[in-house]
Amino acid sequence: MSSLRKIIIDTDPGQDDAAAIMLAFGSPSEIEILGITAVAGNVPLSYTSRNARIICELCGRTDTRVFAGADKPIKRKLVTAEHVHGKTGLDGPVLPEPTMALQQGHAVDFIVDTIRREEEGSVTLCTLGPLTNIALAFEKAPDIVSRIRELVMMGGGFFEGGNITPAAEFNIYVDPEAADIVFRSGVPIVMMPLDVTHQLLTRKDRVGRMAEIGTPPAKAMVEMLEFFERFDVEKYGSDGGPLHDPTVIAYLLKPELFSGRECNVEIETKSELTEGMTVVDWWHVTDRKRNAKVMRFVDADGFFDLLIERFARI
Ligand code: BDR
Ligand code: CA
Repeated sequence: MSSLRKIIIDTDPGQDDAAAIMLAFGSPSEIEILGITAVAGNVPLSYTSRNARIICELCGRTDTRVFAGADKPIKRKLVTAEHVHGKTGLDGPVLPEPTMALQQGHAVDFIVDTIRREEEGSVTLCTLGPLTNIALAFEKAPDIVSRIRELVMMGGGFFEGGNITPAAEFNIYVDPEAADIVFRSGVPIVMMPLDVTHQLLTRKDRVGRMAEIGTPPAKAMVEMLEFFERFDVEKYGSDGGPLHDPTVIAYLLKPELFSGRECNVEIETKSELTEGMTVVDWWHVTDRKRNAKVMRFVDADGFFDLLIERFARI
């Protein structure tokens, strides 16, 4: 197998999703993006599918194929997060409307066809939003599950609790039925929960180093992050906002930045109080199957060094 890792990025941009996509664009000798699939989440699909193209254009990567996927969760009404990301999802910088077109066809079909076509065990799914597109693909074509190399996701939380309810993290909360399908599927999962991402604050010194890069994508990213962090700074008085989604791409590039353990993870879909909770058997108190590698710690300085180094390459 070549060392170039083939990935599909499933995303609901979101400023932190944009940072993840930029990290992948800045790493062309390690990562080949087969396509970007948009899903409804932080903002409705009309915005997320637009925002994904804006990021491609900002980075000069109009050769990237972008597909629109599910516009709502499998069974529920869409919950969005404009309170964090702004009306468009990419609030902050003034960015032109994209001119590159969305690809014809549905994101779910692209995911299925790509995994069937590529060599078995070669495609990694990188999920940065609700898991709707992935669950729909697994339901439509169960044969693809065993062909996937790995699914690396940002989602969930356990010692840290939730960020949209006391118990649930946003990506899982929006579509718990989809998450349940994915965690039960048998696909090898690496999970980046809030426990990790809350250690990655966009502190002034870190964003300042990004600003020093001085390129248009880096400048736009700085303005996005300055908008994005205001929610946490104002609400929690923290030193910046938690940079969630780039953890997924950082893991592909430098897995040694992260540590965690194989656990059973189940998704709560029935309790009104805790729906969307990721119930992580961290202490292995049950015999339930270990279905995910759950990360807990990260080398935050190493993570930001990687991010800044790769942003500078775009
Ligand atoms: C996740 O939810 C979204 O707001 C972010 O983009 C990230 O994917 C964090 O809970
Ligand atoms: Ca996201």
